[in-house]
Amino acid sequence: MKKNLHEIILIFLVIVLVGAFLILFYAPPQADIGPEQPIPFSHNVHVGVKQIQCQYCHPYVAYSNFPGIPPVEKCLHCHEYIISQHPEIQKEHQYFNTQSPTPWVKVNVVPEHVFFNHQRHINTKVACEECHGQVADLQRLPRKPWRMKACIDCHRSKNAIVDCWLACHN
Ligand code: HEC
Ligand code: HEC
Ligand code: HEC
Ligand code: HEC
Repeated sequence: MKKNLHEIILIFLVIVLVGAFLILFYAPPQADIGPEQPIPFSHNVHVGVKQIQCQYCHPYVAYSNFPGIPPVEKCLHCHEYIISQHPEIQKEHQYFNTQSPTPWVKVNVVPEHVFFNHQRHINTKVACEECHGQVADLQRLPRKPWRMKACIDCHRSKNAIVDCWLACHN
């Protein structure tokens, strides 16, 4: 009986160890760095190193509900000349020549019934970074599903409106 118990514990330990190994081995180590994009665009290179302004690429952010991702034409303004032979830049030409929009994967998501408008926020000088983090340090943007709590916490701390049904839900 005692011997059986030892065996059971041993088998149990082996299962746990094998399980832990499999999880560590197969879980992608960078699972939370965000979805892979069609072109590995890096905010770190463009904003952090090359100091390009957000609004150069996201020009409508202050006026529209849709800040917009730059069309590939805009990338080519620079990349016609800069590292033009880079394979990822060749992809830009391909999208451009076939007139197909680059299928960027959206990372910030608000539920459909929520009304979010950048204009109100940027006009009151809430920095991009307060909501989007230090994108200048990131190679790839992480997925961010917005929950109501994130909106409310900031609105409370800045004495902004918290009457959600009037302001945010439509
Ligand atoms: C204002 C100029 C400018 C614009 C606009 C621009 N880039 Fe760049 N990009 C650069 C510079 C400068 C580099 C660094 C080149 C080097 O390493 O020598 C770069 C590097 C890259 C690289 C190389 C990979 C890497 O991580 O170093 C890729 C890919 C790239 N850009 C994609 C894009 C895409 C996609 C767009 C449009 C959404 C874009 N770029 C818009 C200036 C620009
Ligand atoms: C050279 C062009 C360029 C510049 C400059 C740039 N971006 Fe972007 N941005 C892009 C491209 C291309 C994408 C889509 C690919 C991606 O998500 O990485 C993007 C995506 C984003 C997204 C995610 C959109 C989504 O899917 O929800 C945010 C947020 C963002 N940018 C914020 C910023 C901020 C803040 C700055 C300035 C600090 C900035 N960007 C500067 C080109 C640029
Ligand atoms: C108060 C928080 C907040 C601030 C400040 C803010 N954003 Fe956003 N941003 C969001 C939210 C929330 C979304 C998702 C909205 C949606 O999907 O409708 C978003 C989405 C985006 C997108 C993706 C838009 C698209 O068409 O998919 C870009 C690009 C972006 N923001 C850029 C910026 C830039 C650049 C700044 C600063 C000038 C900025 N944001 C400031 C909260 C913010
Ligand atoms: C980092 C802080 C911050 C976050 C996060 C934030 N907000 Fe705001 N928001 C503000 C501030 C500050 C104002 C006040 C604007 C003013 O006084 O004109 C505001 C104003 C608003 C308004 C306008 C209210 C009015 O007076 O008509 C709406 C709507 C709104 N936010 C919705 C949202 C939603 C939805 C989210 C989440 C997806 C969100 N906000 C996230 C700071 C934030």
